Amino acid sequence: MVLTRQVAVAAAILASVGLTGAQNTTNISSDTFFYGQSPPVYPAPIAKGTGDWAQAYAKAAAFVAKLTLEEKNNLTYGITPENGCSGIIPPIERLGFAGMCLQDAGNGVRNTDFVSSFASGIHVGASWNKTLAYDRANAMGNEFKKKGVHIALGPVVGPLGRLATGGRDWEGTSNDPYLAGAMAGETVKGIQDAGVMTSLKHFVGNEQELYRNPGVDSENHYVESISSNIDDKTMHELYLWPFADGVHAGTANIMCSYNRLNNSHSCANSKVLNGLLKTELGFQGFVVTDWFAQHSGTAAALAGLDMAMPDGQSFWGANFTEAYLNGSVPESRLDDMATRIIAAWYKLGQDSPSYPTPGIGMPANLSEPHTIIDARDPASRSTLYEGAIEGHVLVKNENKALPLKSPKLLAVFGYDAPAPPQYMPNGNSLLTNPFTTGYESAFNQLSLAFSSTEIDWPSQLQIASNGTYSVGSGSGANSGPYLSAPLDALQQRAMKDGSVVYWDSALQPGLAGLYEAADACLVFINAFASEGMDRPGLHDDYSDNIVQTVASTCSNTIVVIHNAGVRLVDQWIDHPNVTALIFAHLPGQDSGNSLVDLLYGDAVPSGKLPYSVPKNESDFANMLRHSYAVPPYAYFPQSDFTEGVYIDYRAFDAHNVTPRYEFGFGLSYTTFSYSKLAISIVKGARTGTYPTGAIQEGGQVDLWSNIASVSAVIKNTGSVTGAEVAQLYIGIPGGPVRQLRGFEKVRIKPGQEATVSFDVTRRDLSEWDVGAQKWKLQSGVYNIYVGASSRNLPLVGTLRI
Ligand SMILES: *[C@@H]1O[C@H](CO)[C@@H](O)[C@H](O)[C@H]1NC(C)=O
Ligand SMILES: *[C@@H]1O[C@H](CO)[C@@H](O)[C@H](O)[C@H]1NC(C)=O
Ligand SMILES: *[C@@H]1O[C@H](CO)[C@@H](O)[C@H](O)[C@H]1NC(C)=O
Ligand SMILES: *[C@@H]1O[C@H](CO)[C@@H](O)[C@H](O)[C@H]1NC(C)=O
Ligand SMILES: *[C@@H]1O[C@H](CO)[C@@H](O)[C@H](O)[C@H]1NC(C)=O
Ligand SMILES: *[C@@H]1O[C@H](CO)[C@@H](O)[C@H](O)[C@H]1NC(C)=O
Ligand SMILES: *[C@@H]1O[C@H](CO)[C@@H](O)[C@H](O)[C@H]1NC(C)=O
Ligand SMILES: *[C@@H]1O[C@H](CO)[C@@H](O)[C@H](O)[C@H]1NC(C)=O
Ligand SMILES: *[C@@H]1O[C@H](CO)[C@@H](O)[C@H](O)[C@H]1NC(C)=O
Ligand SMILES: *[C@@H]1O[C@H](CO)[C@@H](O)[C@H](O)[C@H]1NC(C)=O
Ligand SMILES: *[C@@H]1O[C@H](CO)[C@@H](O)[C@H](O)[C@H]1NC(C)=O
Repeated sequence: MVLTRQVAVAAAILASVGLTGAQNTTNISSDTFFYGQSPPVYPAPIAKGTGDWAQAYAKAAAFVAKLTLEEKNNLTYGITPENGCSGIIPPIERLGFAGMCLQDAGNGVRNTDFVSSFASGIHVGASWNKTLAYDRANAMGNEFKKKGVHIALGPVVGPLGRLATGGRDWEGTSNDPYLAGAMAGETVKGIQDAGVMTSLKHFVGNEQELYRNPGVDSENHYVESISSNIDDKTMHELYLWPFADGVHAGTANIMCSYNRLNNSHSCANSKVLNGLLKTELGFQGFVVTDWFAQHSGTAAALAGLDMAMPDGQSFWGANFTEAYLNGSVPESRLDDMATRIIAAWYKLGQDSPSYPTPGIGMPANLSEPHTIIDARDPASRSTLYEGAIEGHVLVKNENKALPLKSPKLLAVFGYDAPAPPQYMPNGNSLLTNPFTTGYESAFNQLSLAFSSTEIDWPSQLQIASNGTYSVGSGSGANSGPYLSAPLDALQQRAMKDGSVVYWDSALQPGLAGLYEAADACLVFINAFASEGMDRPGLHDDYSDNIVQTVASTCSNTIVVIHNAGVRLVDQWIDHPNVTALIFAHLPGQDSGNSLVDLLYGDAVPSGKLPYSVPKNESDFANMLRHSYAVPPYAYFPQSDFTEGVYIDYRAFDAHNVTPRYEFGFGLSYTTFSYSKLAISIVKGARTGTYPTGAIQEGGQVDLWSNIASVSAVIKNTGSVTGAEVAQLYIGIPGGPVRQLRGFEKVRIKPGQEATVSFDVTRRDLSEWDVGAQKWKLQSGVYNIYVGASSRNLPLVGTLRI
């Protein structure tokens, strides 16, 4: 019922803005189409419980031995939930297994009440603070647990962010695999330490939303999902890298993705599941499909899929026991699926009688009376607030426009300043349910229904025009207990300090005199992104015009953008009256109050960009383009990742493109200097060409052993206490000129110094050797750079292996 309504609403919007078919912007000729197929990797590895999984596997083996065929089979697929969980596994009561609840979202528990809305992935990336990433995840994990959730459906490291227009890029932390992997590792640990499994997703190559699912086009042709065609070296050095970190951190679950890889569906791709994940990375947990991403029965089972969601009936289901009886799938494969699932349940302590009943805090219908379970913990408030603070990135600050100095009059502009008027929060809701966040639900349903049709999203959908944007849209979003909007927080400040705040959403020329009298004009705009659609562009004229109009009359124009992805600013950034710019990303419930504390100097900006901001779309060259369905593969859309590892700063460095703001850049209210670079080889480190260690979670264990150590001294040369993110980049011979290989955030008082040190592992120095199928440490000279961003690297040295 609800689904139908949502699709109808969404379809109506599309009709009203005059959607047309896709444009054939990219030609994929048979010459460039060079990845025909995915190599077969069989049989599926049977997990035995390496490392700290041993005990859980021993218990699981004993448990699974007691199960009937039907019971084992029932563990492998979802059934229709009677509660508000995204997916459930039914109980096996006679053995004390209560079942499982799988639930979105990446920034807090979705589709329920009395939970917190934490900062989104991109905001965590912009904080560059590993401790914060852990604390946020742990606080979130506690809320999932109290609501009776067993598996939190996140974090996201795929999409990585190959396309700056990607609709789900904001759910992940960064398009740099090192930063994304480090943050994913902390998030996995934080959530799992609370007793809730993480579902690291979407495995792998899920880099565009367009054609993410198969479907039927306007002429009734079946169109397959997009095939991400990725060569082996790029796979390892870019897209697989952060998954390896998450597996290394112990993620109990991995979600396979909607897209195909080399033309084989991710959830039935033996190279990806049996090969990369379960053999090379030694993954001990289980693989679940993205919702409705299963497209085959026996093939998926043999390729390494362990659990189908939300409903296994179409391919697995009750009758699939036949496949194990007639020999299509060996029963040992089913035993492995069941053992992986039950071992994860034991490992996380979910067998404890005190673990909350599955879905206990997830009412099926929030509009009907239900028992309230308040999952929030007052102790998490500082983490929510700090998480909101640290993802703001100050990139321009002329004449010390910020922090504000006891302003008497502030003038506020832009659709992104006030709270959403209709529903709380994210009141740009098209739906009647106040707990679904606006566009996102409609788009999500739409994408399931029509995902392969040739949709070019209308440019009107580039912004969330009805109120401030605090979380991106789609299944990665949740709703918090309140939403502090910038305008509300500014007014509260005025109430306290006796200043004046005026606002004007219509930009009335008659009030121009007032703007001139203002101490500062604050302009709030945003950049919308949602699951199910890629962004129509990287800037929009409507918002740019608001900035330009204000700047033409106000000499101190401060711009704040709540951006769910890269947002270009060259339309106005050099305007002399635009004195400051903050990329405010997606801060969650504490959006306004954290921003106001930064504006007034009660908090000091410490975020840095987890992506580059180029000057113009053209700087991205091919990196912006979707792949469309074009001949000769019209019904089998292909996306060839021919750029290899050269995305974002790796590409700009390689092609001598100067960005507007480079990867890793961000200003503070203080300044820092760098000195005393020290580089040394760790005593006794083995520097042979290939790793020799056993495979445990994440790959060969000695990939993580330290080979070198780099340190530097940072001094706060300004007048306020601030935090600096020191970054280590390494030039691996034959690879990109430099790649991020370390970062440390330190808080330093004025005039004081701090030493930062970076452990450099074998993995950090290696390239993927396609022939040997191993990570290769070369003998030679590695360039070492330490500094404040990817292009501000005052300390340069070398490391000789
Ligand atoms: C794309 O190109 C093909 C042939 O090159 C053409 O048949 C098709 O109509 C084009 N689609 C659009 C939306 O222009
Ligand atoms: C696509 O190929 C056609 C035929 O070869 C050519 O005319 C057209 O310019 C190409 N379009 C693009 C965007 O490269
Ligand atoms: C895809 O094909 C490329 C080129 O043949 C190969 O290097 C890569 O390993 C393949 N990946 C998968 C997942 O099949
Ligand atoms: C397996 O699941 C089905 C569907 O939920 C249920 O009807 C059946 O009783 C279950 N079988 C066992 C043995 O638990
Ligand atoms: C990183 O986050 C933690 C946890 O919120 C916080 O205590 C710490 O001050 C932050 N570190 C820096 C250098 O800002
Ligand atoms: C299972 O098989 C029986 C007998 O062939 C059939 O009637 C039933 O519809 C099947 N159930 C499903 C869910 O496919
Ligand atoms: C075995 O069972 C599976 C699942 O029902 C079915 O797809 C397959 O065709 C069967 N194979 C044989 C040889 O009967
Ligand atoms: C939820 O409950 C409300 C109020 O009883 C009802 O109007 C609505 O139809 C219900 N929604 C669903 C999906 O059942
Ligand atoms: C914003 O609100 C107005 C007035 O309620 C409504 O007409 C419009 O559709 C809303 N726009 C969006 C994008 O939700
Ligand atoms: C900057 O603002 C002043 C008003 O303070 C205005 O007179 C001037 O024209 C503006 N400059 C530009 C380039 O618009
Ligand atoms: C900026 O990019 C757009 C879109 O690619 C292009 O049309 C325009 O010419 C570019 N402008 C400049 C100055 O390069």
